[in-house]
Amino acid sequence: MRIAVCPGSFDPITYGHIDIIKRAARLFDRVIVVVLNNEAKKSLFSMEERFAFIEQVVNTLDNVTVDSADGLLVDYALKVGACAVVKGVRGGLDLEYEQRIITINRHLGSNIETILLPADVQYAHISSTLVREIATLGGNIEGLVPREMVAEIMSRCNG
Ligand code: PNS
Repeated sequence: MRIAVCPGSFDPITYGHIDIIKRAARLFDRVIVVVLNNEAKKSLFSMEERFAFIEQVVNTLDNVTVDSADGLLVDYALKVGACAVVKGVRGGLDLEYEQRIITINRHLGSNIETILLPADVQYAHISSTLVREIATLGGNIEGLVPREMVAEIMSRCNG
C-alpha cells in the first residue's frame, strides 16, 4: 500500500489545501493529513480545533484520514510508513520555500520523496494567513474556506 502524508499547519484549512488533499487521494492508496506546528508561525486555532475542521471536510474521502503530531515531519512519515510527502505550491515563493524544506528533510536523514503539486489557478491566491487577516478585518472569507467553518473563524478572529 502506497501511503502519502499531506502535512501542514492548517490554521485553518482552506479550499486550496482541500484541492491538494483530493488530488493526492487520487494518486495514493492512502493519504494521511497531519496537523503539525510550524515553529515560525503563531497559530490562531489549537491543534484540536484545526484537526476537527479537517475531519469535517475530508470525511467524504474514503482513503483519507486525519492525524496530528508533535515533532519532526520526517519522523512522523517514517513512523506511519509513508513513501511520499505531498504539498501544494502556489508560485515561486512557495517553490523556493519548499525546496529548502525538502533539502532540510533530506539532511535529517529522510529518503521520503516530496511531491509538489501546482495549485489549481482557482485556489492559487488562497492562504491561511490571508484568511485570518481578512477575517480579523471583518472581510468576507466565503469562497476561501468551507462554508461550515466561516462563522467559527469569524467569531474567533473578532472575539
Ligand atoms: O502549512 P505550513 O505552515 O506551510 O506547514 C509547514 C509544516 C507544518 C509542514 C512544517 O513547518 C513542518 O514540517 N513542521 C514540523 C516540524 C519539522 O519537521 N520541522 C523541520 C522542517 S520545516
